[in-house]
Amino acid sequence: MSQKIFPKNFIWGAATASYQIEGAAYQDGRGLSVWDMFCRQPGKVFLGNTGDVACDHYHRYLEDIKLMSDIGLQAYRLSISWPRVIPDGIGKINEKGLDFYEKLIDSLLEKNIQPWVTLFHWDYPYELYCKGGWLNRDCSDWFASYSRVIVDRLSDRVSHWITLNEPQCFIELGHHLGNHAPGLKLELSDLLLITHNTLLSHGKAVQIIRSHAKKNPKIGASIVGVVSIPSTETSENIEAAKNKMFSISKKDFLNNTWFADPMILGKYPDDGCELFKENLPKNIDKDLEIINQPLDFFGTNIYHGDYVQAKSNGQFEAIPMLDGSPLTTMNWNITPEAFYWGPRFYYERYQLPIIVTENGMANTDLLQIDGKVHDPQRIDFLTRYLREYHRAIEDGVVIDGYFLWSLLDNFEWEHGYKQRFGIIYVDYQSLKRTPKDSAYWYKEVISSNGGILFK
Ligand code: FCB
Repeated sequence: MSQKIFPKNFIWGAATASYQIEGAAYQDGRGLSVWDMFCRQPGKVFLGNTGDVACDHYHRYLEDIKLMSDIGLQAYRLSISWPRVIPDGIGKINEKGLDFYEKLIDSLLEKNIQPWVTLFHWDYPYELYCKGGWLNRDCSDWFASYSRVIVDRLSDRVSHWITLNEPQCFIELGHHLGNHAPGLKLELSDLLLITHNTLLSHGKAVQIIRSHAKKNPKIGASIVGVVSIPSTETSENIEAAKNKMFSISKKDFLNNTWFADPMILGKYPDDGCELFKENLPKNIDKDLEIINQPLDFFGTNIYHGDYVQAKSNGQFEAIPMLDGSPLTTMNWNITPEAFYWGPRFYYERYQLPIIVTENGMANTDLLQIDGKVHDPQRIDFLTRYLREYHRAIEDGVVIDGYFLWSLLDNFEWEHGYKQRFGIIYVDYQSLKRTPKDSAYWYKEVISSNGGILFK
């Protein structure tokens, strides 16, 4: 029997985001982001941590790229800090900010690492927030102009683009629950408007990339993976899980279809329209045409899923986790099957190649007595998830790549530096990097194209 491996052109990568790693928050002309302001509000972020210094990647990117190269990464997903490049969000460009990304990308390419650029991973320009942010009817044009600046400057070297990271989260957490920047608790009609404007921003950015990129672009978005897993793999439970995964039953924004359907299918889902009918934005048909741009892949960030079973009346129900089920330090369930059913259901519905643009585990990592960081839990977690990912490929799901979250321990939003997701440990005082055992393991995964996962 031949040994199991991943497909020949499968891409192995790792991901980060600007505010979480860059630091240099007040240097070289960077403007403020909503996260700079949010971190300064008492009680919002664990121990008052901020991204002012973070991993200091802005100054240490060469060292970080060397580490990526040692691991053998084939691709690196980074995000651009909009206020670093355009301090006020619109208007004057900060050349020093753009220079940074040019140098970063050139250095990646020198090491043969493909850059995957995310245009927006939550560090929204504070000046635009003061103009109404995502509620302002001009906001999609602001995003388009910013996208144009980046595409004009980088698209001779970058071919992989992600417009938005997890719109569900920055809307729900940042504008509804208020525990992420900018910390708002808006009404439903405002939230629906923000959602719509965000989707329109995505559509306009895709148009900009397609029409101005110098290299043939591959474009997607990173949708948060809200995944349902059949409690047992009977046809009834599979159907129930699929229905649950693509339904909207609550007036919040942690669902799949309110975002992915307009982007890919060109319409908002019927159940959501019914639920939100009192508060929907009006006259949106033309916008939907802009939102519905052809995409090259379905990007999704999958960390966990919920078990679902069929009820006798044809409905479905989520099953609570059993007492004592395994959790990460984020208190997220460890559910490897999410890596089979998520990609499979997304592929069936949206018919685009799947790329998991984030997946990983927060753990109680520490520099141990022998000077190393042993993280067997993370290796076990990733092995289980990647085996399920491979099972989906065996069952015909087209899957083109995988990005581990994260390359480095970093600023984990409201949890500050408490939660460590990296395969490289960062000492936030000395800023010294120490590859964890999982980094050495991931190197082997990559060099064997997944072969060691099945040993
Ligand atoms: C995702 C975010 C990413 C990181 C991981 C743990 O929701 O996109 O920035 O915080 O979770």
